[in-house]
Amino acid sequence: MSANREHFSSRLGFILAAAGSAVGIGNLVGFPVSATKNGGGAFLLVYALFVAFICLPVMMAEMAMGRKAQKDPYGAYKTLSDSDKKWSFAGMLAVLTPFMIAVFYMVITVWIFGYLAQTAMGNLDALADPAHFGEFINQSSVFWYMLLVGIIVNLILVGGVKQGIEKAAKFLMPALFVLLIGLVAYVLTLDNAMAGVRYYVIPDFSKMNASVLNGALSQAFFSLSLGMGILMTYASYISKKEDIVGGAKMVALTDSLVAFIAGLMVLPAIFSFNPATNPDELSESSVSMIFVYLPKILLAIQSDIGYTGASIVAFVFFLLVFFAAITSLVSIIEVPTAALMEEKNVSRKAALIILAGATGILTILSTMSFGMVDWLTQFINYGGASKSLFDLVYDVFYDTILPLNGLMVCLFVIYRWKKVRLSEELSQGCEGYEGSFTEKYVNFSLSTFIPVVLLIIFVNTVATKFF
Ligand code: PHE
Repeated sequence: MSANREHFSSRLGFILAAAGSAVGIGNLVGFPVSATKNGGGAFLLVYALFVAFICLPVMMAEMAMGRKAQKDPYGAYKTLSDSDKKWSFAGMLAVLTPFMIAVFYMVITVWIFGYLAQTAMGNLDALADPAHFGEFINQSSVFWYMLLVGIIVNLILVGGVKQGIEKAAKFLMPALFVLLIGLVAYVLTLDNAMAGVRYYVIPDFSKMNASVLNGALSQAFFSLSLGMGILMTYASYISKKEDIVGGAKMVALTDSLVAFIAGLMVLPAIFSFNPATNPDELSESSVSMIFVYLPKILLAIQSDIGYTGASIVAFVFFLLVFFAAITSLVSIIEVPTAALMEEKNVSRKAALIILAGATGILTILSTMSFGMVDWLTQFINYGGASKSLFDLVYDVFYDTILPLNGLMVCLFVIYRWKKVRLSEELSQGCEGYEGSFTEKYVNFSLSTFIPVVLLIIFVNTVATKFF
């Protein structure tokens, strides 16, 4: 079975692809804003602790399941539970979740691509108008951008694991790093940049409370691409010789480092634009941050380097975010692709065509739920408000189901698959794992407090979002 299964060509290819999945819009914009609003260095510290002590064990568990089973997530739950029906629900959710998250992530990626194209056409001044975003997302041109993004993603995926996903990651990830470092180096030369850096890193523990902690953990979970079946799928494409434990640590470190560095790009820019910035007033969502606030700042740079210079900086910024988003989209669509190929025995091409149709329809409907079509815009009522189709997909799958999927991974590996098998799989390629502190910690944490924490987050989100 696994003899003709595709594999990454090397450990580096796997790490870059997994890091490509993890590094996304969440890192580049969401993280810096949350960190600044929630206590700077204090948030950074808490986030780092969550990554190391809660997310990393879950990541290792997901990877171990995927590599052991050499299957898509649905097949992995099935194989590892000896076709126990009780677990097929977990397997189904692990495939449905990425499918639905792909829809909302696609919508945002299309907007980013639209802004990239508009900066390339020299329209930065139009983007900086606060009314522009609302108009742009309701124009028919978004459908053309959607078509182009869909083509790019599918061109990568049709190449398969080695020639598609791995090749794209090997180009896009280093490019992303260069663009990021270039932007940070430039932004740090702006007036008042250091005020932004200070605000970002100096700890303020008075901001810490239960909801900040909850937010930090959800952010870390999403940022590391956990609970989406992605790491299970990617790990099913690596061989037994490779070290999953080390690989997981590398992915978590790269993801967190990029998030941290992104703060050194965003915050100094904000403070240089407005030295009297009060971070509490920074925009609530990453979306308004990227599409409304940052274009204004980018345009303001023209007083420093002229309009063309500012347009180039803006172009580089949107290109950076676009590269990050593409590698994430690829990873998330690969999950249902692998599931269709393996569970329904269709070819990769056929799977991609089916998914392009299915995600395409839902993405078009979601895109029309920002005002173009009334019943999609006022799709449903819950939590005391009227919500659009996009809101619904976002609230259910991003906010609620992710911790639930994480919880099921913990319960599955510990109580169904059992610790000995987990340890055995993780020690393949990682000499000295058995008996190590890491092993003891992973087994202990996954069987005790991590599932409890994830359950609390799940229940709390359901209670606050939907009731
Ligand atoms: N980790 C991504 C981010 O931080 C999130 C993501 C990954 C979303 C994969 C979709 C698919 O933005």
